[in-house]
Amino acid sequence: MPLKILIVGAGVAGPALAILLQRADPLHHITVIERAPSLRASGLQLDFKAQGMPIMRKMGLLDAMRAHRVDETGAELVGAKGECLASYGIRGDAGTEGVNGGVTNELEIMRGDMVKVLVDASVADRRKLDESGVRGGGLKYVFGASVRGFAQKEGEGVDVTFQDGREERFDLVVGADGQNSRTRKMMFGEEVDREAFKELGSQVAYFNVPRGEGDGTLARIFFTARSRAILARNGGRPQTQVYLFSQTNMEKTKASYGKSLAEQKAVWRETFTGAGWETERFLEGMRTADDFYSHQLAQVKLPALYKGRVALLGDAGYCPSVLTGKGTTSAFIGAYVLAGELARQPSNVDAGLKAYNETMKEPVGLAQVIGGNMALPSSPLAVWFIRNGLWAVSSLRIDKLIMKLMPEQKEATGLETWPLPEYPELNLAE
Ligand SMILES: Cc1cc2nc3c(=O)[nH]c(=O)nc-3n(C[C@H](O)[C@H](O)[C@H](O)COP(=O)(O)OP(=O)(O)OC[C@H]3O[C@@H](n4cnc5c(N)ncnc54)[C@H](O)[C@@H]3O)c2cc1C
Ligand SMILES: *[C@@H]1O[C@H](CO)[C@@H](O)[C@H](O)[C@H]1NC(C)=O
Repeated sequence: MPLKILIVGAGVAGPALAILLQRADPLHHITVIERAPSLRASGLQLDFKAQGMPIMRKMGLLDAMRAHRVDETGAELVGAKGECLASYGIRGDAGTEGVNGGVTNELEIMRGDMVKVLVDASVADRRKLDESGVRGGGLKYVFGASVRGFAQKEGEGVDVTFQDGREERFDLVVGADGQNSRTRKMMFGEEVDREAFKELGSQVAYFNVPRGEGDGTLARIFFTARSRAILARNGGRPQTQVYLFSQTNMEKTKASYGKSLAEQKAVWRETFTGAGWETERFLEGMRTADDFYSHQLAQVKLPALYKGRVALLGDAGYCPSVLTGKGTTSAFIGAYVLAGELARQPSNVDAGLKAYNETMKEPVGLAQVIGGNMALPSSPLAVWFIRNGLWAVSSLRIDKLIMKLMPEQKEATGLETWPLPEYPELNLAE
């Protein structure tokens, strides 16, 4: 039965769900709203792991994603003067299979490229449907839009009021609005929302700066005193990605999140001024960066992923945090399972949502495992140890980076053992 569906958030999860719903039933009416005035095609490197690749393949997007692969050859640990202290995973032939220390089924691409590939594919699919004479159904993206509130009456769908005062009824609303989801807050209330948001005690900021002379295909990592670290990676692009990690100046940083970008940047500048290495250059780049994004590292753990006809998808429902490196994969698993369960019981949306909630329990649990403690080193001695002895990574991913910060840190595995359900109803490849 074709449904009228509202997806809140055009990040990674929202457009992925739109593609899958549309494949399952071209007669669905799908609206994706995004709060930002245009696509937020920013952010840094993301990777697919475990079920991420098979889902991409089923969606027919693997080649499109591969075309944007970031060309990183390895990582090096640098000291305060930029000197190389150690290097890892140097790869001679960039771009071949077998990057990441021989693990072939992984792929890293820039978040912006990923979001664009997904949105473009959903729009292209719709165009093909229209051209092939499908009458009914539709897909539209609306930017600069958000939900002010909604009301549900059993069996009647969801009455949504948009920020501009417009009202519309939908059969299903999906909140794919990220880690700080407002949909989640509106569904469950402030208290449940606060309880679900588990702070991990670190802050992170991401942005791009103009490429500098020393920025090659090696990612460079710098640890400095007072629990701060900087990662710069270029991967053969005209711009260099900078990540700032901090466990210092916490209250001020947290208080900045609700404020303007200029105010957020000012706090990060204060935290990192004088940190050493190329910090001043990065801070200068940050000043004019138009893609600055900062947040706290956190996980979202909810007792249920839906309430009535409103469901949560991706980081909004079960953010595993950057530390696990599994946010993107979890978002794709969620989109696949939600679309799959809805398609399996096309005349019973409520049963589909219940099955989504149940099926996600295991992969979400596996994705959210963080082994050990992940304190950034604070004392000069600890910094020295990290620089000199405790590093051995074959390639650089954020999860691996953080994992190596503490010697007892182990890579959390397990998600790859979870068998992806098959949903022939989705009409995908394979
Ligand atoms: C700008 C940006 C940069 C990021 N950079 C990185 C990165 O460098 N590395 C990394 O590991 N992860 C990054 N992330 C997070 C990463 O994209 C997610 O962890 C993961 O891919 C899951 O995606 P998601 O679609 O659930 O959430 P997100 O990718 O966060 O997408 C959520 C979308 O919802 C929109 N939105 C938020 N609130 C509302 C609202 N009230 N109404 C309508 N729309 C709303 C947001 O603007 C965003 O487009 C970034 C997220 C964003 C938004
Ligand atoms: C959702 O799933 C969890 C298990 O992950 C279960 O405890 C909960 O009761 C379910 N909620 C609903 C509303 O189905």
